Amino acid sequence: MSDSRETINHRAFVVGYPIKHSRSPLIHTHWLNKLGIAGSYERIEVAPDGFAAFVGSLKDGTSGFCGGNVTIPHKEAAYGLADQTDALTQELGAANTLWLEGGRLIATNTDGVGFLANLDDRHPGWDRGGSAVVLGAGGASRAVIQALRERGFAEIHVVNRSIERARELADRFGAKVRAHPFAACGELMTGANFFVNTTSLGMDGEPAPELPFAALADGAVATDIVYVPLKTPFLLQAERAGVPIVDGLGMLLHQAAPGFEKWFGKKPVVDAELRALIIADM
Ligand code: ATR
Repeated sequence: MSDSRETINHRAFVVGYPIKHSRSPLIHTHWLNKLGIAGSYERIEVAPDGFAAFVGSLKDGTSGFCGGNVTIPHKEAAYGLADQTDALTQELGAANTLWLEGGRLIATNTDGVGFLANLDDRHPGWDRGGSAVVLGAGGASRAVIQALRERGFAEIHVVNRSIERARELADRFGAKVRAHPFAACGELMTGANFFVNTTSLGMDGEPAPELPFAALADGAVATDIVYVPLKTPFLLQAERAGVPIVDGLGMLLHQAAPGFEKWFGKKPVVDAELRALIIADM
């Protein structure tokens, strides 16, 4: 009656290409130390042409890992190579968390869970309904739209530079989700109850366009999945307009928790100490 995790090392990984900038090792090592677990979490750099072999070594046990995180550019491949996945991950077609269970490789995507947990944690009641504006239609946007669809919003407006990508997401996620060109952003923000940036606009000190945050409805909340800098240009604009903001760092922290629990068997806590640790490393 052995749990497969007990017969395998408590070793987990984050695999990507490149991988050296990943902050995940800091998060998981903090939790391992905090919870007194004798395990490890390692960065593994694997080029796209080596990814299938890496997954093979995971499945046959020769890698010695019990699971791990997957990041750019391997999320779609990880989904495709897994033995089992869940319905939400199938809809996204991309996985960020893998673990072995009874000799099978299970894949899931925790980005949406992390996105919602961050908002629930930092601004309870943020999802009171009305309309939401999602800026961007890339990989990150998918998980955000999927997560928002499950909450109280009547309409989710996806605004993107390339309208074709926004339309693809609107078709994928159903009637509540509508596609718009970037130029419609200001009009859609007027009276909206929620704003999220899922693009790379404003990352690492890059400028971002001015948006009419003051036109959002009373009680609206603005967030950004970019977390470097912590207060992005969009969040600064929102703050100046008196709109409550939630930064994106908590999404990174919360998306890490389900994997940790699978690999190491204990539920970790996202707290101020962990936030401070990551901020100090920025
Ligand atoms: P990710 O997986 O991080 O979401 P992605 O799939 O490359 O990355 O998507 C990047 C998103 O940022 C897209 O919505 C992209 O718009 P396009 O689909 O039109 O390319 C958006 N984006 C990136 N740079 C942008 C810019 N300078 N102006 C407007 N949108 C931008």
